[in-house]
Amino acid sequence: MTQPPDSDDAGPRPVIIDTDPGQDDAIAILAALAAPELRVMGITAVAGNVPLELTARNARILVELAGRPEVPVFAGCDRPLRRDLVTAEHVHGTTGIDGADLAEPATALQPQHAVDWMAETLLAAGDREITVCTLGPMTNVATVLQTAPEAARGIREIVCMGGGFFGGGNTSPAAEFNVFVDPDAAQTVLHCGAPVTMLPLDVTHKALMADAWIDRLRALGTHTGAAAAGMLDFYERFDVDKYGTTGGPLHDPNVIAYLLRPDLYQGRRCNVEVEIDSPLTRGMTVVDWWNVTDRPPNCHYITEVDADGFYDLLLTLLARLP
Ligand code: RIB
Ligand code: CA
Repeated sequence: MTQPPDSDDAGPRPVIIDTDPGQDDAIAILAALAAPELRVMGITAVAGNVPLELTARNARILVELAGRPEVPVFAGCDRPLRRDLVTAEHVHGTTGIDGADLAEPATALQPQHAVDWMAETLLAAGDREITVCTLGPMTNVATVLQTAPEAARGIREIVCMGGGFFGGGNTSPAAEFNVFVDPDAAQTVLHCGAPVTMLPLDVTHKALMADAWIDRLRALGTHTGAAAAGMLDFYERFDVDKYGTTGGPLHDPNVIAYLLRPDLYQGRRCNVEVEIDSPLTRGMTVVDWWNVTDRPPNCHYITEVDADGFYDLLLTLLARLP
């Protein structure tokens, strides 16, 4: 098993969060905004769980909930690179963050398109300076990489929630939602030349929420705690019903937890390719875990997590927010 890259001690790690909120995205965004180790340069919304107008709305609601209205939010791509958009209101509700009774955002969207801002920011960055966290379909990041390939130079690491292999998919038998929605984008990211770490269903399903943990969020007595608990009560019902488990997976916050505490995770560098042609297995992440092909390793594929450590970290972070 390879260990993740060493975190440097050169001040807060600059990150861009690309997201389709989504209750699990919401917890990831709140956790990132609560972590002094991270400098969230901006949040870029993408169509995914719900259409772009709602993901861009929800991202602004979340920066305000965290007491961080100064963090810029940009709207990006409203559909995948070359497919029709598939959304997931059946999981996340019509707003995407159902379960939280939150006011409409007061903060305006940034006028610049997310893709233009991300490209500009990465092109102006030092070599391997900025970490890009993708929590939804990778359409925005892939568009940047296709229109400005040299932007990859400014990327320290792309840490994405997506994919699944050993445990299959959650949207089709073969594919996880983020990669199913935009398989072409995921394949572009995996071949962009920047270091890629993937947190797939194979790891997120090993850290299921406990109702007692959601109750501890509510017991924080804060707006964030109440909103997070309400969102997660709503969100987990789908997976509990589907999998017959006592709790649901909390996918996207694993990306932030990996950045803050890589020691909680284990994985392996290997080759990962995305099926983009087959109607049956579109979006399948084919993981050469046993190195049986001559395809070069292109991904740090994570499969293990310390679940207690993960949820303890999230609670500690969310407790810092108003
Ligand atoms: O498959 C889970 C992923 O799809 C998560 O990022 C969830 O928010 C949805 O975007
Ligand atoms: Ca997401």
